[in-house]
Amino acid sequence: MTEQKVSLTGIKPTGAPHIGNLLGAIQPALKLTEQYRGVYFIADYHSLTSEKNGETLRESTYQGAATWMALGLDTEKNVFFRQSDIPEVCELAWILSCFCGMGLLKRSHAYKDAIANGKEPNHGLFAYPVLMAADILLYETNVVPVGKDQKQHVEMCREMAQSVNHHYGADTLVVPEPLIQEEVATVVGLDGRKMSKSYDNAIDIFLPSKKLRKRFMKIVTGSESLEEPKDPTQCHVFSLFKHFASQSEIADLAERYRGGNFGYGDAKQKLFEVYEEMIAPARQRYEDLLKNREEIDAVLRSGQQKARVIANCVLDRLRSRSGLGPAI
Ligand code: ADP
Ligand code: TRP
Repeated sequence: MTEQKVSLTGIKPTGAPHIGNLLGAIQPALKLTEQYRGVYFIADYHSLTSEKNGETLRESTYQGAATWMALGLDTEKNVFFRQSDIPEVCELAWILSCFCGMGLLKRSHAYKDAIANGKEPNHGLFAYPVLMAADILLYETNVVPVGKDQKQHVEMCREMAQSVNHHYGADTLVVPEPLIQEEVATVVGLDGRKMSKSYDNAIDIFLPSKKLRKRFMKIVTGSESLEEPKDPTQCHVFSLFKHFASQSEIADLAERYRGGNFGYGDAKQKLFEVYEEMIAPARQRYEDLLKNREEIDAVLRSGQQKARVIANCVLDRLRSRSGLGPAI
């Protein structure tokens, strides 16, 4: 590894990503690669806890990979791969599971939520934090940029790493820090709630132009007449517009809201235009990549090779110290 610190994150492939993912996760993670060496992967093993259709899972993985590539992840400088291309992570997960108390796993939010909702979780869901810890520890990660929802998992990972280090020496595993990006705003969806796949209020990043416009037109707004002045701070259209427009465009639109004789339909059109202009080149690249999967395969293969080198170095050390296989 170079001296540069490692920032690692896993992206669960669960269908086409939306604008909330773009602003809340993808753009901040891309920004971090200016300062850290990024180790980013498509977490397909994790999706398997809920997605049992093979075609869907594979398609989502390609969509996820194409998204990051189209949005400008430098796959030469960083390490970008598919989680299941490094099955060593399962070996590390097993070792870690021997250092992880049942009590710790029972306190996991995802597991507790499943139980509270009367579901019978599979073992994969129960052990989800162990696999996630293996993801993090296998690549000597220093920081893990995550949303608040994932903070608990990183803390569990730290506990597992500390327990391993207690037995085998402090230099066995690198203990990571969570990097919670407080300043990332919650992006609102069509109905003003948090944009989320599960609320059916999301706008996919790369919707084709016509569909995109239609989707923006569905944003729920107030029912004032065209003539009435409107308050931009109360409007979901304006809230989204602010993420994509320049300061002067924002000021200009706010003035139009307040001036009256400006309808929500016009505001939606402005939002569409500013987003379309920003996204069109990346969308073209995204569509090209999905038509030419060999390019994605080649990038993931090269990422696999880079990731495997680091993974085996960490695993060999751990295997040796824990008495698995011959001493080295
Ligand atoms: P969804 O709620 O649609 O299932 P995920 O939980 O898969 O989204 O989101 C992955 C990451 O994208 C989250 O950890 C979070 O950082 C970011 N994210 C998702 N929705 C939003 C949103 N509405 N605003 C800001 N960030 C978001
Ligand atoms: N659990 C994360 C999510 O649901 C995805 C993930 C898998 C991950 N492995 C990771 C995130 C390692 C950070 C680090 O979004």
